[in-house]
Amino acid sequence: MQLTTDPNARAAPSDTPLRWPLPSALIHWGTVGLLVIGVAVAYGREAVDGRGLRDGLLNVHRWAGVLVWAACWMRLALRLFKRPRGRRPATGRFMTWAATATHVALYGLLLAVPLLGWALSSARGQSLEALGWHLPVLFDRDPDLADELAAAHSVAALTLLGLASLHALAALWHHFIRGDGVLASMAFARAKPRAFSTPRPGLPSSSPAEPT
Ligand code: HEM
Ligand code: HEM
Repeated sequence: MQLTTDPNARAAPSDTPLRWPLPSALIHWGTVGLLVIGVAVAYGREAVDGRGLRDGLLNVHRWAGVLVWAACWMRLALRLFKRPRGRRPATGRFMTWAATATHVALYGLLLAVPLLGWALSSARGQSLEALGWHLPVLFDRDPDLADELAAAHSVAALTLLGLASLHALAALWHHFIRGDGVLASMAFARAKPRAFSTPRPGLPSSSPAEPT
């Protein structure tokens, strides 16, 4: 799947700013919210006394993770059918490559981390149930395997958080340093197309041949 946006962008007048479709933006920010809740709960439960509450918080963590996984597939499917519109501001080759590599890695980790968590729960002999939904146990209880999966889940989750932080910093760089509308492309507001904003003086102008 092509993850740089220019070849992927739907046809639009040349002065139309880059815009992600509303469903993609909703899923993007919903995923961010679920990740914040899931990680806060994963670490926060360590400070909590009482088995029942700790188990309840772990369940919240797991369901947040399952939703992140489902949302990621929805976002990838949407990406095939509802592509971003408009003109992507130009950046250099290295930045284009770095953005593409980061996005591919983010998608991969958003799919892998919940699967590792599910495998970890299975190896601990814990099933997951809520609101009539039941996530099956993948294999028999195995404490040694559980230790390995716990380490893998933790490392993969921290890598996801590190990359997501870099990605967020890049979005802020686009907004505050380049002022090129990339951050606004992920906004909910569906403003009418307006003239493409000119990048700050001294920065490359937009070009359909050079995606971010
Ligand atoms: C993208 C989604 C997820 C993220 C970012 C994430 C992140 C984390 C983090 C940061 C921890 C704490 C690790 C540590 O203490 O070193 C953790 C623990 C854990 N996660 Fe996840 N997780 C996700 C999804 C899931 C899912 C879907 C499940 C199960 C279905 C799950 C099950 C667990 C379990 C069982 C633990 C161990 C809790 C403990 O006993 O301390 N996670 N997760
Ligand atoms: C915290 C977890 C986050 C995750 C997992 C995440 C993940 C992603 C992914 C997978 C894409 C799709 C790229 C594509 O399909 O081409 C994306 C795009 C984007 N994200 Fe995030 N993101 C996160 C947080 C943020 C934050 C905090 C910001 C803003 C400060 C942000 C701003 C953007 C923007 C502006 C785009 C569009 C980039 C473009 O079109 O080049 N993201 N994000």
